[in-house]
Amino acid sequence: MRFSRRDLLAGAAGLLAPFPALAQTRRQQQQEPIISTYARALPVLAEHGMVVSQEERASRVGVEIMRAGGNAVDAAIATGFALAVTLPRAGNIGGGGFMVVHLAREKKSIAIDYREMAGGLTTPSVFLDGRGEFEPEKSQSSGLGVGVPGTVAGFALAREKYGSGKFTLAELLAPAIALARDGIEIDADLADSLPQAAARLGRYPSSKAIFLREDGTAPKRGERLVQTDLAGTLSSIAREGPRGFYEGEVARKIVAAANEAGGRMTLDDMKTYSAVERPVVRGSYRGREIVSMPPPSSGGVHVIEILNILEGYDLGELGHNSADALHLIAEASKLAFADRAAHLGDPDFVRVPVAGLVSKKYAEALRAAISTQRARPSSEISPGKPQPYESDQTTHFSVVDGEGNAVANTYTLNFSYGLGLVAAGTGVLLNNELDDFAARENAPNAYGLLGGAANAPGPRKRPLSSMSPTLVFRDGELEIVTGSPGGSRIISIALQIILNIVDFNLNAAEATEAPRIHHQWMPDQIDFERGLSIDTLRILESRGHKLRPTRAFGSAQTIHRVRGVLMGAADSRQRGTGAVGY
Ligand code: DON
Repeated sequence: MRFSRRDLLAGAAGLLAPFPALAQTRRQQQQEPIISTYARALPVLAEHGMVVSQEERASRVGVEIMRAGGNAVDAAIATGFALAVTLPRAGNIGGGGFMVVHLAREKKSIAIDYREMAGGLTTPSVFLDGRGEFEPEKSQSSGLGVGVPGTVAGFALAREKYGSGKFTLAELLAPAIALARDGIEIDADLADSLPQAAARLGRYPSSKAIFLREDGTAPKRGERLVQTDLAGTLSSIAREGPRGFYEGEVARKIVAAANEAGGRMTLDDMKTYSAVERPVVRGSYRGREIVSMPPPSSGGVHVIEILNILEGYDLGELGHNSADALHLIAEASKLAFADRAAHLGDPDFVRVPVAGLVSKKYAEALRAAISTQRARPSSEISPGKPQPYESDQTTHFSVVDGEGNAVANTYTLNFSYGLGLVAAGTGVLLNNELDDFAARENAPNAYGLLGGAANAPGPRKRPLSSMSPTLVFRDGELEIVTGSPGGSRIISIALQIILNIVDFNLNAAEATEAPRIHHQWMPDQIDFERGLSIDTLRILESRGHKLRPTRAFGSAQTIHRVRGVLMGAADSRQRGTGAVGY
């Protein structure tokens, strides 16, 4: 028997059954196995419910809520509050994010935007110096970079409208309050991340008192982290609802802290903040439906734009992480990121041509300019013209319950521990999210992203994000829930998780562990993780790509659902992650 190139590649990629002829016989004998015997990494399996998050204790909190009768939304909220305690570098109530919810019975998907918002006194030149130059210090290391936090409003809205109704906000907060009040054992992840952030945390006595020792060094693994003030703030929310955060003592302390650090936040900014529901952005890919986060995230739009371009190629035939496949991913990504810089911003302020950017026709036009053999220099690429709109921290968690309801949630303080500033007396770490604005044309932000007028700072505007909480459906059934942190790379990570499962038939764990690449148009280079073969890299170089080895990136938390079985994969690139199910 001679095997075709496709058969061999499929075997190498770990298809359910590597050779069609054998697969045929096997299917006749028994039902196709859900996980290939060729698998090199195995997902966690569950039947009734699963939470995959970056911190296992928080995953357990969510699973307990489902065991007690809660739905995926209840579990997501309890997990999200718990992460604010157990993963303080990214879990938060002082930051913001996005939640994509799917309700199985109603067959309805909703996007909740609880992105931080610039205060009412923000001006377009807020991050520039006297000569009009961008001063990153202002957006990244001062109170000017602090956006009005959105997490508490977002979670409260999600519970009220889409929770099971069996749990009060106070009940969903209770596990987090206990963890903060009683303290948690410092695990390997905290013991790693605290020393890295010690300089930034140490600048503020209020932060140092909680996260560092008196001499300014970080506590070690096995010691306890007690967050009494945070327990107090969470309790205030439990008693009074969001008003316990956005008004009164807690709000006063947050505003005072941001302004003492150079910001211009007002009590009115806090009081008037609201989370909003937005229509999800939808696309399709090889017969699946993709549902993701719309602006002010660029994530969903560009994951779909890149998928649309790639749909024109038989990636499965080219082979997983082959030079041919990676070349096309990089070429498609460049085009999407060029569009991001020009067209994306807060839809409450600018017209974002979402429909044009995610249209198949537009992708066709972009695809026509791609050479399968030569890298096109980024300098020759400018943003496209879609049809106008007619018609080192962030963390992601994925939740699915027994009825097929799902939550993909990504939220963030931007940098690890945000600005590093705890608002004194609240235990709340404040974000530096406003660095995600384009301070001015051609001034890259912390992730090297460019932007223009559409994403200029402005009063009550939400900065553009790359966060990509995403759901994939097959024949109307929920199939994949995924997302990741990683700044601009988030888009590439969500994209490659989907490609790895859909095109290359990897299971969720293999899809997560596989080495990743990233290209964001500018700078003109492919960032690649360790694990790609040197042969592949040489071929890419010979096609004109610049290659840059990079530290492992992201922390994808994925649930893959096949015939009702939940297969969870928590990214092993970070310590302490956990896929927990029952
Ligand atoms: O919203 C965004 O796109 C960024 N603020 C996310 C930051 C991030 O993912 C950092 N984590 N690695």
